[in-house]
Amino acid sequence: ARKIIIDTDPGQDDAVALLLALASPDELEVLGITCVAGNVPLSLTQKNARMICEVAGRSDVPVLAGCDAPLARPLVTAEHVHGKTGLDGPELWEPQLPLTDGHAVDFIIHNLRRHAPGSVTLCPLGPLTNIATAFKKAPDIIDRVQEIVLMGGAYFEVGNVTPAAEFNIYVDPEAAETVFTSGVPLVVMPLDVTHKALATRPRVAAIRALDTRAGHFTADMLDFFERFDVAKYGSEGGPLHDPCVIAHLLQPDLFSGRHVNVQVETGSELTLGMTVADWWGVTDHAPNAMFMGDVDADGFFALITDRLARL
Ligand code: BDR
Ligand code: CA
Repeated sequence: ARKIIIDTDPGQDDAVALLLALASPDELEVLGITCVAGNVPLSLTQKNARMICEVAGRSDVPVLAGCDAPLARPLVTAEHVHGKTGLDGPELWEPQLPLTDGHAVDFIIHNLRRHAPGSVTLCPLGPLTNIATAFKKAPDIIDRVQEIVLMGGAYFEVGNVTPAAEFNIYVDPEAAETVFTSGVPLVVMPLDVTHKALATRPRVAAIRALDTRAGHFTADMLDFFERFDVAKYGSEGGPLHDPCVIAHLLQPDLFSGRHVNVQVETGSELTLGMTVADWWGVTDHAPNAMFMGDVDADGFFALITDRLARL
């Protein structure tokens, strides 16, 4: 199984990504779940991650708390999308699964040093603060990363938090810049893809029809998560952003994109956190990211439903 560390700020869509990974032990060995501040503050994201492990019946997976604020800016959160808890929808509880001791950044560093070079993939689903902090603290680990598959950015779909920027990149643009200039092979799932991966009514109904704890938990989350996008964008359902990352590890042929140069805006107030992707190859800047543009949405939801059924 491929070794991965999931860095996350759950978040209903992060939660589905975690469940998808935890339901796929043949393909994915989740070394740990490292939490970051993002959709809601760190105290809630780490608690939500532990709850999700309990839903998956995976108390064997370490969950660690990481950075509670971006590198150089105050935290911006997204309760208007995810609710006060970050995981609004299902009935929530106080998880029994304890946090693993230590800082998420040190966990990332330690695991990249302890495993063979090129054998650990990082899967960031939130602001890139933990990953960038690890790279700054221990530059020796950068060359050891197999690949980073992340959710963030947008090009043709531009922004969801400002007219120009996607939330994960906007919240910590300096961290994103560190990652995008690190030289690590990147696969990026921008809004261009995730806004095609909509949890429509029939897709959520298929998940609820599993009639399992994980199925109801997921359907309850998606019923809540839908509210924002359906009201705001008139879409047919909530976009399942973060599960695209895990689905790419399980079934890469669901996605298509281009290997292009992507740079992050860190200066301009107007376009802060914008991912400027050279989609048409109009510069001679070397490609640094596989920037995805399309997804087979039916195949994606079939994969999610099939894997959730295994929990
Ligand atoms: C990203 O921001 C968060 O609200 C979601 O969890 C996702 O990671 C989408 O812009
Ligand atoms: Ca997220």
